[in-house]
Amino acid sequence: MGTLANTANIYSNTMRVSLGGDVLPRSVVSFWSSMGAPARTRNGKLWSSGFACEGGRGITPMGDYHAPVMPDECLAGLMPGEGKIIVDLTLGGGGHSEKLLQEGATVYGFDQDLEAIQFASERLARFGSQFIPVHSNFCRVAEELALRGVTQVDGVLIDLGVSSRQLDAAERGFSFMREGPLDMRMDATDSTLPTAADWVNTKDMEELMRVFFDYGEEKFSRRIAREIVDRRVSNPFETTAELADLIERIAPRRGPKHPATRVFQALRIAVNRELEVLESVLHSLPTLLVDGGRAAIITFHSLEDRAVKVYFHRCSTATLDDPTWPEPKPNPEYVFSLPRRKPYLPSDSEVRTNPRARSAKVRIAERLPRF
Ligand SMILES: C[S@@+](CC[C@H](N)C(=O)[O-])C[C@H]1O[C@@H](n2cnc3c(N)ncnc32)[C@H](O)[C@@H]1O
Repeated sequence: MGTLANTANIYSNTMRVSLGGDVLPRSVVSFWSSMGAPARTRNGKLWSSGFACEGGRGITPMGDYHAPVMPDECLAGLMPGEGKIIVDLTLGGGGHSEKLLQEGATVYGFDQDLEAIQFASERLARFGSQFIPVHSNFCRVAEELALRGVTQVDGVLIDLGVSSRQLDAAERGFSFMREGPLDMRMDATDSTLPTAADWVNTKDMEELMRVFFDYGEEKFSRRIAREIVDRRVSNPFETTAELADLIERIAPRRGPKHPATRVFQALRIAVNRELEVLESVLHSLPTLLVDGGRAAIITFHSLEDRAVKVYFHRCSTATLDDPTWPEPKPNPEYVFSLPRRKPYLPSDSEVRTNPRARSAKVRIAERLPRF
């Protein structure tokens, strides 16, 4: 297995782009802090990941990065094997990819998080050219595969959301449980992307309210948005703790969920444009998959699941009907069959060993033959 230093060299082109410039850009601060070097805020505060580190690099033992959710159901859905090409669009720690590779498939592993790409590349190095990492947002899947001479694939896996590693790393700013910079960008190398702090410090009250309500179903969204706008005039938000404290004052803790859970989820979805890129990748599936090729999509909340369910349902309906039409019409979007109408849900034993799986659903669709 290669060393981390070797892996970093492989990606040196990507890194050089973000390292250009005299002032250390935010992307580099985030990137290096995610690799274990502490980052510093305007106030000179230091963040550390608070995560088990190997050799002080902020990289955890492989098993701890992220436990893959419903791996057996994904394998049953994707039917990987020798000679098959599968794209894992959310590589993370490489847990699902490893299973696909063990079945003999060639795997293209996409992730917009450079640290995930580096970690999984090292974990999967033993598979040699059978595994091809791609540092990219999955909304560019068709272009990135075309650059590598691939136009169609046998399977697509999408495991939405953030990894345990991203949540646990204080310096990535995803968690209200750990004090860190209010960042939340999955691609911390892209300094053009607004961070969560940029969002709360600049968006108008109506927009903040809409995001908290639409993406977090937060019933105190108006009050939280108003207090954010009042406070930031004299004291802009920098840290996860500052935002979590404000929310806790407005929406006191009731039940087991921290009151900041919904607002943090909403901000993460907005910062990473999660629903837009999901829509875009769903629409690329019919072209990307070979006849009989399969997609398996794991969702964790109702907004994601609704988008996938509605799209798969629409594209697996043979005819469209309307009371004003003389007869039903063929559906031009009819490209999928659904091997299972209902999603797979995690077993009780999986939820016991991996509580993060409790809200997961896996939906499978199969590309119909083209005529
Ligand atoms: C739930 S984790 C995947 C875990 C993985 N299946 C495993 O077994 O370790 C989701 C990963 O997808 C990545 N991701 C989420 N949205 C993405 C997008 N639009 N493009 C590329 N990567 C994305 C995140 O950075 C994260 O590493």
